[in-house]
Amino acid sequence: MPAKPSHDHELLKFPGNFLWGTATSAHQVEGNNKLNDWWAWEQDHYPAEKQSRQAADQYNLYEKDFDIAKSLAQNSHRLSIEWSRIEPQEGVFNQAEIEHYKKVLKALKTRGFTVMLTLWHFTLPLWVADMGGWENSKTVEYFEKFVQKIAPELAEYVDFWVVLNEPGVYVYQAYQISKEQRWPGSHGNFLGQLNTFLNFALAHRRVYKYLKGFNKPIGIAQNIQSYEAYHKHSLREMLTVMISDGISNHLFYFLTKGYHDFIGINYYFHWRYRVENQILPELVEAKDDKKDVSDLGWEVYPEGIFDVLTDMSDGLPIYITECGIASTNDDRRTRFLIHYLQEVYQAIHAGVNIKGFFYWSLIDNYEWGRGFDARFGLVEVDFKTQARILRPSAEVYGEIAQHNGIPHKLLKLLGHTLDVKYEVNQMIKEGQI
Ligand code: BGC
Repeated sequence: MPAKPSHDHELLKFPGNFLWGTATSAHQVEGNNKLNDWWAWEQDHYPAEKQSRQAADQYNLYEKDFDIAKSLAQNSHRLSIEWSRIEPQEGVFNQAEIEHYKKVLKALKTRGFTVMLTLWHFTLPLWVADMGGWENSKTVEYFEKFVQKIAPELAEYVDFWVVLNEPGVYVYQAYQISKEQRWPGSHGNFLGQLNTFLNFALAHRRVYKYLKGFNKPIGIAQNIQSYEAYHKHSLREMLTVMISDGISNHLFYFLTKGYHDFIGINYYFHWRYRVENQILPELVEAKDDKKDVSDLGWEVYPEGIFDVLTDMSDGLPIYITECGIASTNDDRRTRFLIHYLQEVYQAIHAGVNIKGFFYWSLIDNYEWGRGFDARFGLVEVDFKTQARILRPSAEVYGEIAQHNGIPHKLLKLLGHTLDVKYEVNQMIKEGQI
């Protein structure tokens, strides 16, 4: 059993050695990833403002960003490497890029961070995409070879390996038939969808076996969604909830059982299924149902993180590898953080073995196919000047990390009708944060 957190009059205390971090991915922050399929797709499908272009220029500014994370008492960081930079052509490796990533990881280690490294986060080198991408079973081999080349180079700086980011989301986005095709992929190709999913599972199993040699925990970051029946006594709604939970949350783990040292959870979504007069249940749009939503229309539903944590709990350590809100209103982010972390605390208290939380994201960044309007960052980025501007929520998260828990004075903010930013700024001024 994991150590249960102790109650404290001043603090909702988290277990010792808890990882407090933030997460990013290469294509979303680095800029100029010109050799991957996303870059090519952006040029063909989006106006300039929705292309990744310089992104947050973290390729050059990584030290500055890591200094900021450090100054906010974070003790860990999740990031990814860009395959297309490292292997721009089949079997041709760019040593200068490998050296670059060594420097990046070293910069994290010298600042004392625990490093969680993602090996694949949605982008493919153009040459892989041209050969059919993940739909082609050869990609499993290409990926394995890439990992066999890069892992020995970087292993000394890596504490956790995340082999894949959200294979299920990728399969959904790249193969869906809806009108709004925001991602590269062969939309509407169902056989391709199935092959892709199975290829991901195979790739994960093979890479897991290989990475075992480096003696560090290995897992994936999986988008885990919270589902609910709209009417508590509707059998059809309940069945749909079970099927959705099974397919979207558990199927990948089922196919790769025994090949995970931890469970990585990215939590963003809560859905309700409703049957009125139609046969098949429909998903209720949160905003049509007058629920609180983020700037992307995603429901703000703190209880959902408790649901998914308890649903996925099977004894393995759990890391929340991503969780965040897109909002230009930082008061909302502050409340979001405190409220969601309070639910994480409750889940730990209920016996779930949770070992870390990575807020998405450290800095504002490129959101797939949507450009730069979705502001997920604790730190604002002015994309014209690449200036970094701390948001009050960053200080609040720092306060939580530093105390390894949620101070009661922050919990009080949830009940306040006053402007949170004002309150937080007051606390900063008075030296309380
Ligand atoms: C992805 C990130 C993305 C975030 C917000 C996650 O599903 O891993 O790349 O930016 O969600 O959409």
